[in-house]
Amino acid sequence: MVIAPALNPAEMAPEPGVEPRRITLLGATGSIGRSTVDVVMASRGRFAIDTVTANFNSQKLAAIAREVGARMAVVADPASYRELKAALSGTSITAAAGPDAVENAAASRSDLVVAAIVGAAGLAPTLAALRAGRDVALANKECLVCAGSLFVRTAETANVRVLPIDSEHNAIFQALENRNRREVEKIILTASGGPFRDAARWPLAALADVSPADALKHPNWSMGPKVSIDSATMMNKGLEIIEAHHLFAMPADRMEVLVHPQSIVHGIVAYTDGSMIAQMSAPDMRVPIAVCLEWPQRQPTTTGRVDLAKLGSLTFERPDPARFPALRVAREALDLGGWATNILNAANEVAVSAFLRGGIGFPEIARMGEEILSAAAGRDWGGEPASVEAALAIDSEARRMTTNLIG
Ligand SMILES: NC(=O)c1ccc[n+]([C@@H]2O[C@H](COP(=O)([O-])OP(=O)(O)OC[C@H]3O[C@@H](n4cnc5c(N)ncnc54)[C@H](OP(=O)(O)O)[C@@H]3O)[C@@H](O)[C@H]2O)c1
Repeated sequence: MVIAPALNPAEMAPEPGVEPRRITLLGATGSIGRSTVDVVMASRGRFAIDTVTANFNSQKLAAIAREVGARMAVVADPASYRELKAALSGTSITAAAGPDAVENAAASRSDLVVAAIVGAAGLAPTLAALRAGRDVALANKECLVCAGSLFVRTAETANVRVLPIDSEHNAIFQALENRNRREVEKIILTASGGPFRDAARWPLAALADVSPADALKHPNWSMGPKVSIDSATMMNKGLEIIEAHHLFAMPADRMEVLVHPQSIVHGIVAYTDGSMIAQMSAPDMRVPIAVCLEWPQRQPTTTGRVDLAKLGSLTFERPDPARFPALRVAREALDLGGWATNILNAANEVAVSAFLRGGIGFPEIARMGEEILSAAAGRDWGGEPASVEAALAIDSEARRMTTNLIG
């Protein structure tokens, strides 16, 4: 990775007399949460974080709430309330707990909600934010995978803006420039290929024995554990195809995935006139987060710069279907509909945690998704989930099926 010196924060001028935009940060203790805090702290007063949430990590949440001067900190796990309250003693920060409190926080007054909870747990709070008319910067791709049609309809009805944080979608968002979809031939999402791309170093047979530590070692990105494993299986790219389908109203056959090990080009829009517009930046989530926070303007950031001359070459290749079967499985789920992508997501979440606990081997993760999908195909799941309750009911049944299958 070649990165040129970044701007000095002292060169970034504060904007005199401008009120900060208020942010609610869901999933503050995670990797995207941390990057968002960094972007806000470097913004020199253009943004302020009002509310931060986590699941049960109360000490870390309290530390972040103090760091950003939040008004409120919320844990989803009610049992973590006392610890959070104690960790916030001596401050005026309000503590709250429980899933309802997270949803209330998401819906409370703010200029932007950053949705960075991991997994299907992000669905209810993010939809609560949309319903309350809050603009959303979306990292939680699982929202769209579990209930994409519902999500898009809710955002349209509430007339709110959804800005994609996921780097590939952020790239497409930038390259699309609000152009008419009829001018778009296809979109291309890039994938690093993760730690097991290299067939010489990791022959297919060896993947059965890889450890969680091997799979968590992403070559370019620093991310939370779930998305790191999803990158290694490339289920992440499969989920991103589903995410892009909903975000950009793009049919599956007009979306392509290319492996690009340098992770500099994040997404490409190919137009019908033969032009291709690509977005490039260092593999640092603070870039797409800053794009979302500042949109429609751009402001200087302190993130590293890409030195193309030093990098020398950028390469692209088609993903190997034998190495990355999860991509095919995700496309099959997308063809089946929203109930199927929901089931795939749940099966994948359960399989990833089982792998991280040492309960199943690495190749089993994609296989679980495929087996649960095929077991589910004979049943009536009620079509596209039309409510959070319907989406969560499918999710919990698919989790039960996967847990049983893992045994
Ligand atoms: N990391 C990246 O670079 C990256 C890039 C693109 C997209 N994304 C997407 O962004 C999302 C967040 O990823 P991440 O890597 O930041 O995850 P992460 O590091 O694992 O952090 C997850 C956050 O969600 C909270 N959380 C987990 N379960 C919850 C629940 N049931 N209720 C409420 N909060 C809960 C966690 O709180 P605790 O700390 O208390 O557990 C934590 O704050 C994912 O959807 C991922 O696919 C991530």
